[in-house]
Amino acid sequence: MPRTVLIASDHGGFALKNALAQTLRETDCEVEDLGPDCTGSCDYPVFADKLCRRLLDAGEDAQNGQVLGILVCGTGLGMSMAANRFAGVRAAVCTCEFMSRMARAHNNANVLCLGERVVGQGLAQDIARVFLATAFEGGRHLRRIDLFDSQANKS
Ligand code: RB5
Repeated sequence: MPRTVLIASDHGGFALKNALAQTLRETDCEVEDLGPDCTGSCDYPVFADKLCRRLLDAGEDAQNGQVLGILVCGTGLGMSMAANRFAGVRAAVCTCEFMSRMARAHNNANVLCLGERVVGQGLAQDIARVFLATAFEGGRHLRRIDLFDSQANKS
């Protein structure tokens, strides 16, 4: 079964989102572009919400790397903050290939966040390629990410 990649942005990440979607469509991924579909100003939490709900609807596939998300805004920061409010979503802002590889291998990140005003298109493509090519290593890393949920909302 081909992997599904969900992708969304705000206006600050619109051009990079479209470029990434186009490149990914040339691979064996199924790409679902969740918008926006025009350049007008919009609110990144709305699109983070849309993508995260769609990701979590995928159930186990959202946890085993079969369905992954990419969120793009100006910096990647707002998108990651909004996405990480959802239990079961592990969103990572990555600015280099090393971060991208580790986000998958150690953190089992299921959403990659990119900043169009931070990374150029070439680097963003490489970061996304590494993110999709890297598998979660499990083992002790699974124990650690499982703590995210058991520690959530501790006061
Ligand atoms: C939009 O101007 C910008 O604030 C947004 O794209 C993002 O960078 C927020 O974190």
